[in-house]
Amino acid sequence: MKLLFLGDVMGRSGRRVVTQLLPGLIEKHGFDFVVVNGENAAGGFGITEEILQSLLEAGADCVTTGNHVWDQREALIFADRYDRFLRPVNYPPGTPGRGANVYTARNGARVLVVNVMGLIFMPALDDPFQAVTRELSACAIGNGCDAIVVDIHAEASSEKQSMGYFLDGKASLVIGTHTHVPTADYRVLAGGTAFMTDVGMCGDYDSVIGMEKDEPLRRATTKIPSARFGPATGPAALSGLAVDVDDATGLARRVAALRLGPGLPPAEPDFASPS
Ligand SMILES: [Fe+2]
Ligand SMILES: [Fe+2]
Repeated sequence: MKLLFLGDVMGRSGRRVVTQLLPGLIEKHGFDFVVVNGENAAGGFGITEEILQSLLEAGADCVTTGNHVWDQREALIFADRYDRFLRPVNYPPGTPGRGANVYTARNGARVLVVNVMGLIFMPALDDPFQAVTRELSACAIGNGCDAIVVDIHAEASSEKQSMGYFLDGKASLVIGTHTHVPTADYRVLAGGTAFMTDVGMCGDYDSVIGMEKDEPLRRATTKIPSARFGPATGPAALSGLAVDVDDATGLARRVAALRLGPGLPPAEPDFASPS
């Protein structure tokens, strides 16, 4: 099975590159299952129902989020109606929506996706390690599902890497989101879990983490907020990770970066060659 995970979709530029390229990429590479982080899709802040639908129509099988999930208040309403929409699983009990769900991939495999948020420099949610333990003991590879994707939405690299090793051998893919900058450490860990500290964003990289540069620079130099942050609107790059999953074990055989567009070195998976 071939999985694709795309990083935080940032504003209109990010939406455009994803909706334009994703259908062709699914066809070209034969991805069986696609997860997209959509927490910044609406002008950098949250996601609307209309945008969620456009990402699903472009080929996302599941849209994950993070700390920006409720920036568009309508998400509090539609979260319960879309089983393909996830918010972090470690919000308190009673929070709208769901943080984990099982989906059927195009090859018939059952894929558990868990969205969880880190605690370091992030909102004080429930413990992420206990939360994923609960989800993965209720639905393990070979006992409830055939593959598992965990989106660890966190600021600290250390926390994301800890999650990777914590789940090594139990998940097909543990992938970091939130920083909007792709890391070069994508690989298969010793136990067979594909890992990447942060997958980066789908957005305009001529920016400060996807935002128009002027106000971040003013704030950095003067320490005085003087305008709202707005998303950068130039041409966007798509940034993601492709994983070749062994159908028998549900663990990763190979990983490859998928990067297309200005500001990032281009990369496309070539899983056609022998492993
Ligand atoms: Fe983000
Ligand atoms: Fe975030």
